[in-house]
Amino acid sequence: MIEELNKKLEILDLIKIKEVLPDYIHKTSKDNLTLTEQLNYLVTEEINYKDSRAAEGIIKASNFPFRKTLDDYDFSFQPSLSEKQIRELSNLSFIENHENIIFIGNSGVGKTHLAVSLGIEAAKHRNSVYFITCHNLMLKLNKAQKENRLDKQLQHLAQYKLLIIDEIGYLPVDHQGSNLFFQLIAKRYMNKSTIVTTNMPFSRWGEVFSDNTLASAVLDRLLHYSHIIRITGNSYRIKDKIVESDSRTNKYNE
Ligand SMILES: Nc1ncnc2c1ncn2[C@@H]1O[C@H](COP(=O)(O)OP(=O)(O)O)[C@@H](O)[C@H]1O
Ligand SMILES: [Mg+2]
Repeated sequence: MIEELNKKLEILDLIKIKEVLPDYIHKTSKDNLTLTEQLNYLVTEEINYKDSRAAEGIIKASNFPFRKTLDDYDFSFQPSLSEKQIRELSNLSFIENHENIIFIGNSGVGKTHLAVSLGIEAAKHRNSVYFITCHNLMLKLNKAQKENRLDKQLQHLAQYKLLIIDEIGYLPVDHQGSNLFFQLIAKRYMNKSTIVTTNMPFSRWGEVFSDNTLASAVLDRLLHYSHIIRITGNSYRIKDKIVESDSRTNKYNE
């Protein structure tokens, strides 16, 4: 009988139930549960398994440069940042509301880390997510245009529930690139969420996009429904160097 059941569970792709069932049947602790409660337990196991499998698939395809969560982020190192605000953002209502997030601050303050953490959280809740640096986005869009498939490429990038564009401002974008960038942001505007990270104050985006008018048009759409998170502290990358030099100073003081 169990073999027949196993085959049927396979046909229905209920592989988690198939996996846990043999042990579950022999468990005495479930005996005071009703049949409904037992079925509910097994179905919940299956749903949780399918959710985590789907999340894994999204995370694999999302192109994250690393896998870090908010729990890996040391908020005490970055007092200019409101942990409460970031935790609230991780509830993902910003995705439902098609709002954007802009992380702005110097190199090493954790902009990419925070963007990836929110991206992973979004993926865990089955939102499609894609991570790309601004530079690689420009290469992708320019290539698509050369190959006469710009519309398709823009359509594809516009469809992600969450797009993370990292490192705006590290490299200048030429006029043609700025135009393509604007088209993408305009397509996603009020429709899908975008997280961007930048080291450049908004007042200097004209320099980044080689054109003040295009930069203003991009900023208008990005900032209209947005959470702007400014991080003004030290770089975490040189944290140990600061501690080292502090302890060296202490030694000299002794
Ligand atoms: N407050 C922090 N707590 C823990 N790790 C951090 C923190 N800030 C940055 N990091 C780590 O330091 C490195 C640089 O951070 P990153 O997010 O790439 O900075 P940014 O994008 O602002 O240049 C990453 O490995 C990141 O995980
Ligand atoms: Mg970064």
